[in-house]
Amino acid sequence: MAIEFSERIRRLPVYPVAGGYALGDDIAMLASNESPDPPLRAVVAAAQRALGGANRYPDPSNAALRRALGNRYEVPAARIAIGNGSCDILLAAGEALLEPGAELVYAWPSFSVYPHLAAASGARAITVPLDGAQRHDLGAMLSEITAATRLVIVCNPNNPTSTALPFDEIAAFVAAVPRHVAVIVDEAYCEFNVLDDPDTTLDLLPKHSNLVLLRTFSKVYGLCGLRVGFALCGSNDFPRAVDQVRQPFFCNVAAQAAAVEALKHQDAVADRVERAIVARVEVESGLNRLGIEPAESQANFCWFDLPEDADEAEVVRGLAERGVMVRAGGALGREGALRVTYGTPGQNARFLDALAAVL
Ligand SMILES: Cc1ncc(COP(=O)(O)O)c(C=O)c1O
Repeated sequence: MAIEFSERIRRLPVYPVAGGYALGDDIAMLASNESPDPPLRAVVAAAQRALGGANRYPDPSNAALRRALGNRYEVPAARIAIGNGSCDILLAAGEALLEPGAELVYAWPSFSVYPHLAAASGARAITVPLDGAQRHDLGAMLSEITAATRLVIVCNPNNPTSTALPFDEIAAFVAAVPRHVAVIVDEAYCEFNVLDDPDTTLDLLPKHSNLVLLRTFSKVYGLCGLRVGFALCGSNDFPRAVDQVRQPFFCNVAAQAAAVEALKHQDAVADRVERAIVARVEVESGLNRLGIEPAESQANFCWFDLPEDADEAEVVRGLAERGVMVRAGGALGREGALRVTYGTPGQNARFLDALAAVL
């Protein structure tokens, strides 16, 4: 007889993970919005030093990391939550805020983890379609907020569509949401957004106790293999609640040390952003030459509809056969689209050549 699992497990969607991790080195891994650069030597050295103390549990208060983040982002350490990746904070937010009868509002297509929050908690997910330019329709999202709403998530820049809204629109939205509703602005890719300085949203924190700016070391800091995310919050309440629902040692010693070290190298962050923006221009012109118009990217990846006569699965397979891993839109909310991370100049050229060959 088979094991009898909970009703909740039947509701939970399976996260669409990317392939290619077991295929070896000669693969252009452009499916998971990772950084193409290995971590800095100083960051690896800090992680290695920390491993020498791996007989001890990691500091459960993540004190050094919260202090370093507090200094870098000018947010009091008590208003900072740490996570085993920012996904960990998202899932903990769902657990802390949602329950049957509660509602959660987010745009769609957006980040594939958001549907888990409602499925796991039994809350109702209200999904609001993106506008014609594949950006969040904040007016429509606002009109979906009811007395039952506990959480609204805005992904800016949005994964998978790469588009972003300017700061003024985000600020007006946050100001219009009732104070008892938590607003998570998921800023995993904010450093790549040239519409505004990524630190502009920090100014909103002292004004809005319900605001959570969700960030990560996985993208521009290039440390996704270590799993560290953080949330900069408008009050102490959110960090306290997400800590309450998780096991105490969610961020390991190497990850904490590497993240603290990575924060010291903001010049490397600026350099990675610059190279991603050069890649953005190169990949966009390459796509244009193939007659493809990508969405306006403010991230480290692009998103575009394939020509009508192209079959999404065949294109993804054809690219994989040529050693290029990308993400099919169907699994991310839009059939017939592709999401492609910017890689090194060589990987970008390989992707464009492979796409030309496949189409
Ligand atoms: C919008 C968005 N938020 C959060 C994350 C989670 O990142 P991590 O858990 O690695 O911090 C991702 C990862 O792809 C993302 O695209």
